[in-house]
Amino acid sequence: MTESLDGVWAEDLAHYRAEFTRFMMPYQFGIAEMMTKVNILKDEFTHIHHYSPIEHVASRLKSPESLLQKAYRKNCPITFDDLAKQIVDIAGVRITCSFIKDTYRIADMLTGQNDITVTEVRDYIAAPKPNGYKSLHILAEIPVFMSDRVQQVPVELQIRTIAMDFWASLEHKIYYKYGGNIPPSLLEELTEAAEAANKLDVKMERLHEEFAAAKAESDFADGQLLLPMPIELLESLARRR
Ligand code: GTP
Ligand code: MG
Repeated sequence: MTESLDGVWAEDLAHYRAEFTRFMMPYQFGIAEMMTKVNILKDEFTHIHHYSPIEHVASRLKSPESLLQKAYRKNCPITFDDLAKQIVDIAGVRITCSFIKDTYRIADMLTGQNDITVTEVRDYIAAPKPNGYKSLHILAEIPVFMSDRVQQVPVELQIRTIAMDFWASLEHKIYYKYGGNIPPSLLEELTEAAEAANKLDVKMERLHEEFAAAKAESDFADGQLLLPMPIELLESLARRR
């Protein structure tokens, strides 16, 4: 046995390194399950409607470093049980939608699935943060089937428009650059930018609705998404009607 500086055995450290990796695994699987659901919606929606409401999907597993920092911030004891209970955004999936309406539509489609349990909803689109931050946050549990058990894994969903995402990524960079203390003049400009982003969202949605109405009248099943298939297959199907 090799004792480290603060009285912890090196063998124990090796054990907990393996245990910690095991602890994180279901979260990675939870992300994979959620990504499958989002990608299915994305593909199916493209078939039925004439555009994809989902522009982009990204996921991230919280790094051990940022998990530790968040635990300190929240005064969360460093045990697996406490981390699992208190740090609910270890698994994160961010969905960027084309229009504001789509964020709610996608949220409803996901949360309506009967294997998903919603534990918290924070609608920062309807009620933005004071700095102008907008996004629909949903904390949902998704079952992950493993070799010997089924685990309900919390996944934090952030659903937003392209404009909201553009703003949030810039704000995030500025926030970190100033270590959380953004100068008031810059803060004011950021809030103005959030308002401008919202104006753009509203205008784009209105334009899209006008365009969609016109398009629905002019084309009917344009066939671009149909698979090539043998004519006999279609004839047989038609004969058996
Ligand atoms: P956290 O301790 O960060 O989880 O905050 P919280 O538990 O109060 O949850 P909240 O729903 O407010 O925020 C969760 C996540 O949303 C953050 O980790 C960010 O990814 C994002 N977020 C929240 N507020 C802001 C903001 O003002 N700017 C940006 N860029 N992102 C934000
Ligand atoms: Mg949170």
